[in-house]
This record gives sequence, C-alpha cells and structure tokens, in this order.
Amino acid sequence: MIDIRQATLEDVPEITAIYRDTIRTINSNDYSEKQIQVWSSGADDLQEWKDRIQSTYFLVAEIKNQIVGFSYLINGNHMDGLYIHKDFQRRTIGSKLLRIMESRASVNGFEVLKSDVSITAFDFFDSHYYEVDKKKKKSYKGLAFETFAMYKDL
Ligand SMILES: CC(C)(COP(=O)(O)OP(=O)(O)OC[C@H]1O[C@@H](n2cnc3c(N)ncnc32)[C@H](O)[C@@H]1OP(=O)(O)O)[C@@H](O)C(=O)NCCC(=O)NCCS
Repeated sequence: MIDIRQATLEDVPEITAIYRDTIRTINSNDYSEKQIQVWSSGADDLQEWKDRIQSTYFLVAEIKNQIVGFSYLINGNHMDGLYIHKDFQRRTIGSKLLRIMESRASVNGFEVLKSDVSITAFDFFDSHYYEVDKKKKKSYKGLAFETFAMYKDL
C-alpha cells in the first residue's frame, strides 16, 4: 500500500507543499508563530530542494501515486529531514522511512544514525529507541530553534 522510491526533480512541488503544510499544522504546536513562518518559508527555496534531491539519498513515500512523506540522508548517516503529510500522520509512514534510512546508513558503513530532531518529533524518535546526545539550538535564517541531537546505534 505504501510505495517508497527515490525522489526526482518532478516531485519538488509535492515535497515542498508537504514541508510547508506539515510545519504549519503539526510543528506549530511546539514552535512560535515567527519560527513556523521562517521554518516553513524554506519551502520556497526551490533550487535548494532540487540540489538536495540530486545530491542526497532522498526518498518519498507514496500512497496511490500521492506523495505522503519524504526523508533524506546526508553525509551517509545523518537524517536531515523526515516529514509526513499532515493528513497521513500516525499511519506508520515515518517508521517505514526511518527503517530504510537506518539500513542505508548501515550499508554506507556506519554504526550510528544521527538526526537533529524537532520538539514535535521527539516522542517518535524516543519510541524508536533513539537516545539524546544533547539539546541543541539550531540557527535557521537567523532564528534559533530548540532541537535534540539524537542517535541510534545500528
Ligand atoms: C515525527 C513524524 C515524522 C512521525 O511520522 P508518522 O508517520 O506520523 O509516525 P508513525 O505513524 O510511523 O509512528 C509510529 C509510532 O511512533 C510513535 N509516535 C509517532 N508520532 C508520535 C507523537 N507525535 N507523539 C508520540 N508518539 C509518536 C508512536 O509510538 C507511533 O505509534 P502509534 O501511532 O501506534 O502510537 C511526523 O509526525 C511528522 O511529520 N512530524 C512533523 C515534522 C517533523 O518534526 N519532523 C522531524 C524533522 S526534525
């Protein structure tokens, strides 16, 4: 029912729509209005998304040809993004993408998968046996965001 495949440049509109809408509806519970505005505006940096698709291990999850989530891995073992469509939350899509990223990091020769996790996603990673390395303030477009540097031994 859920198909997972590598992203192509044609997916950019769907990917950026999910990114924008998920941040505005799901992450908005945990971050300020200003933070949500700045964070979600990253959807408009189309060239950056194209570069990500071309230079990272970038997967999309589809249900009936609709993209319902995506994730990408940088530097072999750092999951830099995991976003599930606001209308498809808690349907195991995030878990499936995470499992594939863990396998990929292993295949890449790493023993750990790392991610800087939003407050919103903390419980998800915690329930998948990720441990906190440290609390981390990440700067994005000049604004500070509280995140957790988390990791799992593979
Ligand atoms: C975090 C996120 C990726 C999880 O994806 P998902 O597809 O909804 O997660 P799953 O359905 O695979 O979750 C499986 C299990 O993880 C746990 N879990 C997931 N989200 C949870 C939450 N918000 N609170 C508590 N537990 C959670 C639960 O145990 C869940 O099982 P259950 O639904 O039977 O209770 C998704 O909520 C999301 O897109 N969040 C916003 C974007 C974001 O912050 N991404 C991280 C980038 S830093």
